[in-house]
Amino acid sequence: MSHSTQPQPMTARRSGPLKGNALVPGDKSVSHRALILGALAVGETRITGLLESQDIIDTARAMEAFGATVERVGERVGEGEWRVQGVGVGGFSSPEAVIDCGNSGTGVRLIMGAMATTPITATFTGDASLSRRPMRRITGPLELFGAQVTAREGEFLPVTIQGAADPLPLRYHTPVASAQIKSAVLLAGLNAPGETVVIEAEPTRDHTERMLAGFGATIRTEITHEGHVITLTGRPELRPCTVAVPRDPSSAAFPVAAALIVPGSEIRVEGVSRNPTRDGLYHVLAEMGADLTWENDRTEGGEPVADLTVRHGPLHGVTVAPERAASMIDEFPILSVIAAFAEGSTVMNGVAELRVKESDRIDAMAVGLRANGARVEDTPDSMTVHGTGGLQGGATVATHLDHRIAMSFLAAGLVSERPITVDDASPIMTSFPDFVALMRALGADLG
Ligand code: S3P
Repeated sequence: MSHSTQPQPMTARRSGPLKGNALVPGDKSVSHRALILGALAVGETRITGLLESQDIIDTARAMEAFGATVERVGERVGEGEWRVQGVGVGGFSSPEAVIDCGNSGTGVRLIMGAMATTPITATFTGDASLSRRPMRRITGPLELFGAQVTAREGEFLPVTIQGAADPLPLRYHTPVASAQIKSAVLLAGLNAPGETVVIEAEPTRDHTERMLAGFGATIRTEITHEGHVITLTGRPELRPCTVAVPRDPSSAAFPVAAALIVPGSEIRVEGVSRNPTRDGLYHVLAEMGADLTWENDRTEGGEPVADLTVRHGPLHGVTVAPERAASMIDEFPILSVIAAFAEGSTVMNGVAELRVKESDRIDAMAVGLRANGARVEDTPDSMTVHGTGGLQGGATVATHLDHRIAMSFLAAGLVSERPITVDDASPIMTSFPDFVALMRALGADLG
């Protein structure tokens, strides 16, 4: 749902060493997909470890609006055990009301894909942040399947989609590295006859492909001279599954970063994803000299994970290879904070996609870091942070309805000379409702 709550300012102050175990919540990307594929399967899907954040609740409500039944098992919020009664591929019905996806780009884009090849009509809306984000990248390929789309100024929410009655399968090259585009096309391809093919030049997170295979779809990925070529056979009967959602590596990045920059810290984060389409940050941190110890490699919910111990220590600036960008796209805001506390410059190239996230993240980080004393340069597709080993702090930062901007500056304020305030911490509810409690339990001074 779109929120009309008052902004909730929050301040982070210099803290003693962070210590303890950080149990971060379920993965946001996997949680959206589990609900959507559960709704498209025939029968009951059980989901454990579901992220119970606002973005995911909005997707759950949307699946109900299309005809599925979605309910939490048991009374206790936060346990994350859910049941979905699916209606089958092609079984969605037209929602009676507008679908409000709140703050979630992943939610709205994947759901648009999932309904666009069924002859029903739906209108999608969202909050002020989502209403500024580009939708043509999704509605364009959906029109090629045969859907009819009306969008504000041809690009923005509200968007109304009349699903194709006679969809055509599609062979589609994604114009930018985006798992949301890839996933919307694959979900639309589920109810098209024949084979739908998505070709991406750079690999992006592959949870949709892994989960479709788990639900019984025929899907294969080949690496050719064109890039990653993903082929899905349409009109499968999806079998309901039990999905165990792994912990979210993008949420884990915040306590990890805080432990790296707060002197004397040592924390353990269990079950961090080692999926190569998600673990770019950890490679960059190792190159910066971070003290990271991985143990207990295993598979959880179909994803490779391990336990990570992080210790504070000196860090140095690096140049991040642009090929890494897709595997750490959500981690650049917190990397730019870590970079300010490193010695020397950290250069992040090929990151133009950051400008169309929940906020323009290059601008939000550059403005906020500068206000707190860092030297930062930015271009349309790059950001460079000149680290000095510390940050002055003392300023209030605008978070622009962006959870990751809020969490990044709250981590920075734990070690800056003067406190850092964010103008609104409420967007953190979209992805990491327990962030403040978890960080306080480690010793962070947030309030
Ligand atoms: C996501 C894909 C990424 C990421 C977003 C989640 C997903 O967006 O930024 O937070 O679950 O598919 P793009 O695919 O648009 O890069």
